[in-house]
Amino acid sequence: MTTTDDAVEATLERLSRQQKLSLVRGAPDPEGTATGYLPGVDAAGVPPFRLVDGPLGIRAEGERATAFPASIATAATFDADLARRQGAAMAREATALNQDALLAPGVNVIRVPHCGRNFEYLSEDPVAAGDIGAALVEGIESEGVVATVKHFVANNQETHRTTVSAEVDERTLRELYLPPFRAAVDAGVGSVMTAYNRVNGTHMSDHGYLLGDVLKGEWGFEGYAVSDWYGLETTVGAATAGLDVEMPGISIADAGDGDAELDDFEWPDGIPDGTRAGLFGEPLAEAIEAGEVPPARLDDMVRRVLGQMARFGRLDADGAGAGAHEVADGSRDDAGELDSQRHRDVAREVAARGTVLLDNDGVLPLDDGADVAVIGPHVDEAKLGGGGSSETTPFRSVSPLDGIEARAEGAVASAFGVTRIESVSLFDMLPFVGEEADDETGDAAEVEETDDRDPSLDDAVAAAEAADAAVVFVRDATTEALDRDTLALPGEQDALVAAVADANDDTVVVVRSGGPVSLPWREDVAAVVEQWYPGQADGEAVADVLYGDRDPGGRLPVTFASEETYPTADDDRRFPGVDGAVHYDEGLFVGYRHFDAADAEPTYPFGHGRSYATFEYGAAETGEDQTVSVTVENVADRPGREVVQAYVSPPDVDGVERPEREFAAAESVRLDAGERRTVTLSLDDLALSRYDTEDGWTVDSGTYAVEVGRSARDVRASATLER
Ligand code: BGC
Repeated sequence: MTTTDDAVEATLERLSRQQKLSLVRGAPDPEGTATGYLPGVDAAGVPPFRLVDGPLGIRAEGERATAFPASIATAATFDADLARRQGAAMAREATALNQDALLAPGVNVIRVPHCGRNFEYLSEDPVAAGDIGAALVEGIESEGVVATVKHFVANNQETHRTTVSAEVDERTLRELYLPPFRAAVDAGVGSVMTAYNRVNGTHMSDHGYLLGDVLKGEWGFEGYAVSDWYGLETTVGAATAGLDVEMPGISIADAGDGDAELDDFEWPDGIPDGTRAGLFGEPLAEAIEAGEVPPARLDDMVRRVLGQMARFGRLDADGAGAGAHEVADGSRDDAGELDSQRHRDVAREVAARGTVLLDNDGVLPLDDGADVAVIGPHVDEAKLGGGGSSETTPFRSVSPLDGIEARAEGAVASAFGVTRIESVSLFDMLPFVGEEADDETGDAAEVEETDDRDPSLDDAVAAAEAADAAVVFVRDATTEALDRDTLALPGEQDALVAAVADANDDTVVVVRSGGPVSLPWREDVAAVVEQWYPGQADGEAVADVLYGDRDPGGRLPVTFASEETYPTADDDRRFPGVDGAVHYDEGLFVGYRHFDAADAEPTYPFGHGRSYATFEYGAAETGEDQTVSVTVENVADRPGREVVQAYVSPPDVDGVERPEREFAAAESVRLDAGERRTVTLSLDDLALSRYDTEDGWTVDSGTYAVEVGRSARDVRASATLER
């Protein structure tokens, strides 16, 4: 036994049944900042423990923090080191705000382009999502904060998310939806949050097979499984399945968010009933008394929570009552770090490096001295993120207009062109929470002030005509708890782009979206840039990329295609489901796997993204230890960033259906003008193996093609691998 195990066992010994119960069910946070709170047991040396949202930065109630870009932007960097740095920065901010566990990262595979939470997730590919998710976990935990990977599992849509059953076969679960969680567990994640939905009929908080057998059994997960908020379905089912902690544990009324309105409030679809709480309180005590839940299971739950506290230096083995941020030997009181220059720099770097240059006929990078028209309904406001539990309130933010004005040497004109796009948020669906939140941040006042700006398309056209180049900023509006009903950009933004493109041949469109959107004008403009939700550094990052101070280092972690060509289009069974069930009939054929199998041309393939530089690839060579090496040369006269990607195609095996190719590895490399480098990629096991329901993970013998290139559809070199 290690010292931390000893500390955990010694602490457990000292706890009464009631005290143990208080460590597996959330309670009100006396400081009021945490999203979820465990009160601790002072007499036994167990400090209070705070859990806080979320993936885009810290959302501690009433506090400000760095607003990092949307997770999908982090994924678009294909750079695990950068993701690790972002995770570490978020953890230092959590510590500064006195929080112990971060409710991030979200790693659900992006199955449906309409999902309102795609911006909080990483990729349509399990290896890409697993790599970046694991790096975020490592970064967060490297700074002494527990990471919480969510939402386990098959929470791939928001419509009916609290009730719907994802009907998905075992092989698909194993090959697509589970691997990012497995990668997080292998990276040492301290906590796993269960999803609201059911999988094959069983609610995830009650899922003995996935929670107990797979996560804790097969994968050996030793941390604690926490429910999503108000996401517990039963007491005995959850306790015996393997759920360890109920959050928030108290009714929304007791959390101080109003009560009178709650009596006849109809909870909207996608929002859990906030009065359903306390299932791990008295009901769990009674179930143990009645012999329905063994007392040893309660010990196991508590052991798992204490285990993470001990691991991150929160537990005092002597029961002397350690401070929440003291390491085990009590030598350090970590104050964390908030809104520091290096955190601002990470936010800016991720925003710029996650930017994907979809098309460019040469207008970009802009000339320093060009006269620029900056156009769009929100050019005066940074696009921080989407709606819901990941919303952040930054200390500072830079709008696109301010960022461009600060960088441009030519004249900068601006026009809104069309009316604002109404933002959407889960909190607006909860009247009693929304009002309060708005009062605190002043957001409501801001919206009113800017709503009567009387935007005019003529002004936008005039500004575009007078400028050397026009840059149009467009956005979608997405939130947790709601899926989009169309991939089209909202409002009159498509018309705005068309009018500006008519007026100026050098029109650049910068898209801010949570995932794929329709770009009907893309062939009529000179360049298209995808920036996801860039966070507080918005204007700085976009200026970095537009003026070429940074090469657009992002590549698509999701396929962009016409709305009707996605595998979940036009089939209610597949999305949003029928009679309470959503059928994953497409099986493995999600994202690029589908477009390959259907031989359909996507608008922009998975992995796509242009650079301002030009790269040439040498021959690919596979190595003994499941690697592939290739020499890449920057043949341009400027530095650039290339994301070298590897895909694996399996041999044909009779009667076995496999995707044509699977993403296996990527590395983001910066090359100076004229520089050559040999890049060696380790091919992920997942890309070579398949899951057989009888034999488990299987690697078929035969010849595997290893393709190296710039996207799933742009292969530059290939080699083979024998198995
Ligand atoms: C979300 C979680 C979040 C939790 C706490 C839920 O609505 O699904 O991702 O961490 O709320 O805010």
